[in-house]
Amino acid sequence: MPKTKIIVDMGTSNVSIFYKSLVLKEPNVALIRRKNGVEPIAFGNEALNLVGSADEYCSFINPVSDGVIVNAEVAGFILSHYLKKVLRGNPLRTVEIIAVIPCGLSVAERENIENAFYRAGYKEVALIESVLGLLPFVDGKGSAVMVIGGGTTEFAVLKDGAILSACSLNIGGKEVDKRIKEKVLDIYNIVISEYAAERLKKEIGSLYDNNTASYEIAGRGVLDQALHREEITAESIKAPISFCYKKIIDVAESLFTTLPSSAVSEVISRGLYLAGGGAAMQGLEDFINKYLHISATIDAEPETTVLRGINELIESGKLHHILNFKK
Ligand SMILES: Nc1ncnc2c1ncn2[C@@H]1O[C@H](COP(=O)(O)OP(=O)(O)OP(=O)(O)O)[C@@H](O)[C@H]1O
Ligand SMILES: [Mg+2]
Repeated sequence: MPKTKIIVDMGTSNVSIFYKSLVLKEPNVALIRRKNGVEPIAFGNEALNLVGSADEYCSFINPVSDGVIVNAEVAGFILSHYLKKVLRGNPLRTVEIIAVIPCGLSVAERENIENAFYRAGYKEVALIESVLGLLPFVDGKGSAVMVIGGGTTEFAVLKDGAILSACSLNIGGKEVDKRIKEKVLDIYNIVISEYAAERLKKEIGSLYDNNTASYEIAGRGVLDQALHREEITAESIKAPISFCYKKIIDVAESLFTTLPSSAVSEVISRGLYLAGGGAAMQGLEDFINKYLHISATIDAEPETTVLRGINELIESGKLHHILNFKK
């Protein structure tokens, strides 16, 4: 009986699962109670809905930091919960996991990811770099691709179905949120959570000039500690956003300089293909064009591009030579 392949991205912001053309995406967080042992109470959005109402023994734990699993136990709980949900009773022995990872992980970091799946009861696990998920979206010639996630940005040049050159940078959407939070404190004198900063970013964040949008958000006043509602303008949070995206672009530029000269003109003439949640930032194409002087294409649904791409590679039989299942 052929085994079912499930593609899983245990990301810094989200846990994303692709199974039978369906994508499950939830914040990668669990509410854990430590009283008589360790007990998971809720996961993902359900856990976040309990912010403010959980008791003193509870804490919210995100098991992934900068693309790396830092808490294998909680990662195992989260994987077990969501994989059971998508499998709906399918026996585990018929399942193979394909886990999406950043480039350049150490052996210990790779083992940590495998261990999280073993803890969840899944024994057949193969790892694949996220940038390879973009292969179906570019052709076999030299192409530059970028995946901007919550904690990492992956940049690679792909050629003939493999990675020619790649690097991983510890900057992603979470860094943007952190800097937006700092900017709001600076200008409006209110403290907002990083989740509120993320909401601001998704609602009005933009790399375009002269954006007139605004969005109301609640925060605690620095002086009086009272709750204040402020209308935040897109223009006021543009600087922290462009600072982070400029850093990302600078790394892409330096990777171009490491390419063999024969590949540079080919790659530059073809432009950059982008995916990952962070690629949904408004104005990113023009921003890349302005600073990197190449054209940019952003996938229509960037948060799921990598999973869909890996699924396409599996279905067309192009992944066998890349995957290595440990049992
Ligand atoms: N419209 C949007 N504009 C800007 N950023 C966005 C938008 N939508 C989602 N994001 C950001 O995308 C990030 C999540 O993307 P994704 O799910 O690809 O990351 P991840 O896989 O969890 O993280 P990583 O790959 O770094 O481990 C978050 O930081 C989120 O704020
Ligand atoms: Mg990711």
